[in-house]
Formats: sequence, structure tokens, C-alpha cells
Amino acid sequence: MDSSTPFSDWMQAVQARVETVLDTLLPAAGQHPARLHQAMRYAVLDGGKRVRPLLTFAAGELVGADPARLDHAAAAVELIHAYSLVHDDMPPMDNDTLRRGKPTVHVKYDEATALLAGDALQTAAFDVLTARPLSDDAAVQLQMIRTLALASGSHGMCGGQGIDLYSVGESLSLPQLELMHILKTGALIRASVLLGAACGAVLSDDEKARLDHFAKCVGLAFQVVDDILDEEADTATLGKTAGKDAANHKPTYVALLGLKGAKEKAAELLADAHSALAPFGDRAARLAQLADFIVDRRF
Ligand code: IPE
Ligand code: IPE
Ligand code: MG
Ligand code: MG
Ligand code: MG
Repeated sequence: MDSSTPFSDWMQAVQARVETVLDTLLPAAGQHPARLHQAMRYAVLDGGKRVRPLLTFAAGELVGADPARLDHAAAAVELIHAYSLVHDDMPPMDNDTLRRGKPTVHVKYDEATALLAGDALQTAAFDVLTARPLSDDAAVQLQMIRTLALASGSHGMCGGQGIDLYSVGESLSLPQLELMHILKTGALIRASVLLGAACGAVLSDDEKARLDHFAKCVGLAFQVVDDILDEEADTATLGKTAGKDAANHKPTYVALLGLKGAKEKAAELLADAHSALAPFGDRAARLAQLADFIVDRRF
């Protein structure tokens, strides 16, 4: 599939490919203990936009990476993402009952199983990332593991989730809110891009810095749009309960800046993301299209 393939066809092809890879990598539904393995598969398969794997593949195209390597880098980030959603939806966190158009994992199974499924998906991500060579240079692969670990832990997603929970009902300043979003969502989006880029030809320091800036802008924009959609979209379109942020008194871009201000912020971040890619030219076409998709998405 070359760069002349329309974006929607490319996206569908990568989504289908990633589905197959995840299906193959996850334990079989009948494998003991079946309830846990079924919950893991339920959390991961047959749903979601697969934005993070798409970013991994698009970044991989920039560096001519072997798609077989990208399969595993992309699966690793999606497994972390799926785990984060399972735990995010649980009663002590957002207490949501609908995810990807289906009952959340703790509703479909039970809370203990949801906890364990999330835990097991997290460690499965690192198994996937370490089970085979994803770079010609072992030191690069070691760095990939660290990138994903840092993006997932208390300096990344978990840290952002902590700030989110501790801030309920508080009025955060814009820099505080930005940090929360950068950590809870931006960090894993950034890792998705960096992992894809690490699977191929080495970039110059200047190119790495530009790609990283792109990833940071898109990561923040992603959560700004998630906040907008929570306010604007309906439950059927989102596949998760709309209006929950306001109901739960969550600090969001919409709460702080209003819908108009949040949309302006997303547009500014998108423009910044495109500027960072410009010197790459056509090699970054998929990344540019994905950034547009992320900001223009309706679900
Ligand atoms: C939702 O992520 C949670 C956030 C980090 C905002 P996505 O919108 O990527 O969810 P799926 O994977 O498409 O269901
Ligand atoms: C969740 O943010 C970010 C994660 C790390 C899972 P939200 O709580 O806004 O995500 P949704 O709206 O439930 O998907
Ligand atoms: Mg949340
Ligand atoms: Mg939530
Ligand atoms: Mg949300």
C-alpha cells in the first residue's frame, strides 16, 4: 500500500491488520483461567479506533520500518491503552458502564476480574515488546521498552490519571490542566509515535526533535477533543456515556475554556503539529492525515 492509497483505506487496512495481530497475541479464550483470558480479549478486541497503532504505523512509514516489527510495537501500545480503559472505567475511577458500545469489563465480568485483566494486559504489552527483535540495535529496543514504561507509569498515564482523580471538583489552572492531559493521554500517544519511529532507519537529532514535538501536540490535542466530544457528542456515537465529565465535576478543557476555547486550542495544536512535520515532506503524509483525523473526529 503506497502513499497514493486514500487515507480511509489505509486506516482500515491497518486497523484490520492490528486486530489480527492482537487476536493472535492474546491468550486463547479457552485457556485456563478462561474467565480472565476472556475478559482480556473482551477488553481489547473488536472495538476502538486504534489511533495509537495507527500512529505507530504512520511513524514507521516515515522511517521505512518493517511492518512485521510495527505489528508488535503497535500491539504493545494498544494493550497498555486497553488496560488503562479497563481501570479508568472501574467504580473507584470514572465508574462507567459503557465502553466501545458494550458493557465495561467490570460490568460484563466482575471488578476483581477487571483489575486482573488490566494488570495482565499491562504485562502482556511488555512481553510483546521484548519477545522478538524490533530493531537491529538491541540498545534501541531497550530504549523502546523504557519509553513505553515511562509513558505508562507515574510519570505518564498513571500520573495523569492520579491528577485527574485528585482534581475532581477543583478548579485547575490552565498549566495544571495541560500537564494532566499531557500525562494521562499525551504520554502514550507520544510513545506510539516514538516506538514506530524506533523500528526503522535512525533519524537525525533534529528530525527526532520535530517528530517528538508533533507527537506531543497530537497527544494533547487528542484529549482536548475527547473533552469536547464528552460535552458535544451523544452516547450512541461515542460508544461511551456522554456528559460524564460535567456530571463528575472533572477538570477539562471545556470546563476551563468553554467549547469555543477548547476548539481553538485543538486547532492551534493541529497547526503546530503540521508545522513540525512540514520538513519531512511526503514521508510524513500519513502522520499529517492522522493528525487531521484525530482533531476532526466525531467519536
Ligand atoms: C479514550 O481513548 C480514552 C482517552 C485516552 C481519551 P480512545 O478515544 O482512543 O478510545 P478507543 O480506543 O477508540 O475506544
Ligand atoms: C482517560 O481519560 C484517559 C486514560 C488514561 C484512560 P477519560 O476518562 O476522559 O477517557 P474516557 O472519556 O473515559 O474514554
Ligand atoms: Mg478518566
Ligand atoms: Mg473515563
Ligand atoms: Mg473523556
